[in-house]
Amino acid sequence: MDGNGRWARARGVPIAQGHREGGEAVQRCVRAAMEHGVDYLTLYAFSSENWRRSGEEISDLTGLMQFYLRHRFRELDEQGVRLRIIGDPERFGVSFCRELRRAEEKTRHNTRLTLALALSYGSRAEIAGSARQLAERVRAGTLEPHEIDEALFASALQTHDMPDPDLVMRTSGESRLSNFLLWQSAYAELVFLDVLWPDFGEKDFAEAMMRYMRRQRRFGGRPE
Ligand code: IPE
Ligand code: MG
Repeated sequence: MDGNGRWARARGVPIAQGHREGGEAVQRCVRAAMEHGVDYLTLYAFSSENWRRSGEEISDLTGLMQFYLRHRFRELDEQGVRLRIIGDPERFGVSFCRELRRAEEKTRHNTRLTLALALSYGSRAEIAGSARQLAERVRAGTLEPHEIDEALFASALQTHDMPDPDLVMRTSGESRLSNFLLWQSAYAELVFLDVLWPDFGEKDFAEAMMRYMRRQRRFGGRPE
């Protein structure tokens, strides 16, 4: 989700307003995902690099996330959305983190859509975490190095209970992954949209899906 800042700057309004409008776009995106029958939607809400932003912007973003969790959560739960958090939410403080964990717990059995929020998430840190976890098991004598394969490595990632993404989309015209699901996106189709995130709507979602459908996925093999 990229372009909140540019959206605000283009209108001469505070960045915080760009983020607020971005929150509305999140709701449109979640709705569109459900209408399109998507099973897993992961939103890159805050990267581990976003801590470099000003204290004011970070607290605006945190406040906004808290607002949605408190006021929109029930609706999501009723719609059958299962919430999952990846990243390092502890960095947002114990009380917000506890609220997030409670929301995960409460929606654990919902099946319509898994909505994963990447909060203070960085893919390299996640990959290093998987390596660390497996190394600890080797040290404890419960794992042999030769047993470490791709499946075992993936099972130690934070996304262990989610499938790899089929489609990764990014808004605002940037063509980068910016430390998002690097391991998991090995064979994902990448779609870059020019729309700024606060303007993102159902037609942009449909456009990304359309582009995805037109791709031929070979996973390294030969087409029929
Ligand atoms: C939103 O867009 C991404 C978040 C961190 C919430 P940006 O805030 O990165 O917008 P630009 O890149 O400055 O336009
Ligand atoms: Mg940006």
